[in-house]
Amino acid sequence: DAPVVAIVGATGAVGLALIHSLEQRNFPVGELRLLASARSAGRSMSFRGNKVPVQELTEDSFAGVNIAFFSAGASISRKFAPLAVDAGAQVIDNSSAFRMQDDVPLIVPEANGKELDAAPRIIANPNCIAAILTTALAPLHERWSITRLSMSTYQAASGGGAEMMEELREGTRAHLNGEEFEPKILPHSYAFNIFSHNSDVDPETGYNGEELKVIAETRRILGQPVLPISVTCIRVPILRAHGISLSIRFDEHVNTASIRNALNSAPGIRVVDDREANHFPMPSEASGEQDVLVGRIRDDLGDPSGRTSTMFIVGDQLLKGAAQNAVQIAEALRAKAAA
Ligand code: A2P
Repeated sequence: DAPVVAIVGATGAVGLALIHSLEQRNFPVGELRLLASARSAGRSMSFRGNKVPVQELTEDSFAGVNIAFFSAGASISRKFAPLAVDAGAQVIDNSSAFRMQDDVPLIVPEANGKELDAAPRIIANPNCIAAILTTALAPLHERWSITRLSMSTYQAASGGGAEMMEELREGTRAHLNGEEFEPKILPHSYAFNIFSHNSDVDPETGYNGEELKVIAETRRILGQPVLPISVTCIRVPILRAHGISLSIRFDEHVNTASIRNALNSAPGIRVVDDREANHFPMPSEASGEQDVLVGRIRDDLGDPSGRTSTMFIVGDQLLKGAAQNAVQIAEALRAKAAA
């Protein structure tokens, strides 16, 4: 009874990570259908030691498909996800197309997996920062009431897809060789530089699109629709792991030991918090890792009331921030269907 699985956008950065996550997590796959644009048709990609051909995405691509992962941008999802549903598939969508739609749950299994009980036909996979953040917040949110979040992000190139990762590599190479480099994807030179996230800035609030997504989606996943959240999103020249420097305010006094205990026993988290060795979460150690790394856990000295805790979180943007979370949603759907 292994399902027929489709990946829309199979040749992209997240598509590749999806193939990897299906392998890594041993997800049962009866048939894998790899879909991309006409440009990629005829290529083949490797899955569990077999070559699987890439096919052009068309309206007829979903016959017989049980689970369809979408990762080819919001407009492709808007057009093709309903067709996949009509063909009988459950859709797990990595784009922003349905994330704020009331009848589509937005899921991080560790935080709000119980919302899958309703057996939805389309499930939205969150923005990468929201997914990594809420994985770390889930055990705290369960135990204490969170009243405010304040954070800055350190975001990798993979969030902008395979092309942005290549621009980081090429720009860095050119910079080291003393050559001119004209960025094509990003508005600014990325080598040895950091800059405000490249999404559009809302003229009224001054927040950019990424920041507004992080606020709206985090509220939705935590089920706290008016939670005060302040966030500044920054691009850093890292290939595939996002960092988040975070202050969490609770409605009561908390201490570092109890926060650390709650994190230590939670799924999907690895505490990396060695003060003696000055060893804390780093993109170099989070890249390729399924767990979100959490460290620098301490009382926030900026809140003398003792109700605020501060920490640094790093997670693989392509895995927990995208593909792996999507595969975990598929695992949860299968477990619920079997129960
Ligand atoms: P292709 O490689 O054929 O262009 P990324 O986010 O890493 O840039 O990847 C985007 C993914 O979405 C790729 O797999 C890309 O396929 C796919 N894609 C882009 N446009 C289309 C389209 N019009 N139809 C189907 N797949 C598309």
